[in-house]
Amino acid sequence: MTKPAIRPACALFSSGPCAKRPGWTTAALDNALTGRSHRAKPAKAKLLKAIEDTARILKVPADYKIGIVPASDTGAVEMAMWSMLGARGVDMIAWESFGSGWVTDVVKQLKLADVRKLEADYGFIPDLTQVDKTRDVVFTWNGTTSGARAPNGDWIADDREGITICDATSAAFAMDLPWPKLDVTTFSWQKVLGGEAAHGMLILSPRAVERLESYTPAWPLPKIFRMTKGGKLIDGIFKGETINTPSMLCVEDYLDALAWADSVGGLDGLIARSEKNLSVIEAFVEKSDWAGFLVEDKAIRSCTSVCLKVVDPWFAGLDDAAKADVPKKLAALLDKEGVALDIGAYRDAPPGLRIWAGATVEASDLEALMPWLDWAYGEVKAAAKAAA
Ligand SMILES: Cc1ncc(COP(=O)(O)O)c(C=O)c1O
Repeated sequence: MTKPAIRPACALFSSGPCAKRPGWTTAALDNALTGRSHRAKPAKAKLLKAIEDTARILKVPADYKIGIVPASDTGAVEMAMWSMLGARGVDMIAWESFGSGWVTDVVKQLKLADVRKLEADYGFIPDLTQVDKTRDVVFTWNGTTSGARAPNGDWIADDREGITICDATSAAFAMDLPWPKLDVTTFSWQKVLGGEAAHGMLILSPRAVERLESYTPAWPLPKIFRMTKGGKLIDGIFKGETINTPSMLCVEDYLDALAWADSVGGLDGLIARSEKNLSVIEAFVEKSDWAGFLVEDKAIRSCTSVCLKVVDPWFAGLDDAAKADVPKKLAALLDKEGVALDIGAYRDAPPGLRIWAGATVEASDLEALMPWLDWAYGEVKAAAKAAA
């Protein structure tokens, strides 16, 4: 096969940090309040705007609280788990690496006594109807490393007694999140909106606030996790008075990303862009004789972190080392050609490719990339056969 004539205009398909919005240049940062105190009036106004625009675009209910917190999505999830868990038993749901990380935390670090694990292998999700409404629940909406997402929130009871903690970092701004079902929701800026890393977003329902104000964990909490003082929520955190110092450069960039989100039609426009991107890859896979989805069930297939596996019968006959090697070589060749950067599967995931299809990626770039996948696979297969 000859090399395709058309290249993606943008070769950035990493699953985080993700491509910046189309047309982004550093000019987007010109008005950043660098060199100013983040407690100065105009800086606080920007932080508050970031919170308010997030709430508006994500359609977060008015009685929910949104805070900008330290240490990216991980910081936000840890903050929630360490502050709220232990009040009752918890169901830990995991179907890939990040969800499993939260399980490890709860079992080995928090050492909670009453933990039930509901787990599934890469490409699948567990039976969510097993979740017990009398218990707390921790789960990841979109498993970034497997490309499997929760199909909906119907399995979360409206009259639940526990709280739900949802890591939504590669879902927020790309998937509909059922707010009444979610008590704690977290994400980071560098995913679907292509922002900069290091800041976490923590969204609390009134029930989550009630837990914070009524329960004190048995373990000490470091300052960067503390959301209450004297048994009351520290309200300032949810108005832009951050616990410690944020980067005003990153804040400016996030505000730019939110303005772009508005320009493409807000949440609905962002979801439509991501779903369209997924459909480009689906059209490719449908015709392909070598590529398949790691997630075969369309109902739980991610529209952001799209994971592909090799389904060629020749590949099935290879030993495990060669099976790991082929997708790596494929990703390396596409990188060398400058047509797709950072699309190797996550280190803990089965061998394959992972292509980011979130809203900042242009469908035309994915369309241009697809023939390159065929070309590169042909090259890698021919080389492997010649070497055997
Ligand atoms: C589902 C999920 N959770 C957590 C993380 C960690 O995020 P961060 O690096 O923002 O802390 C990631 C990063 O890719 C993720 O995809």
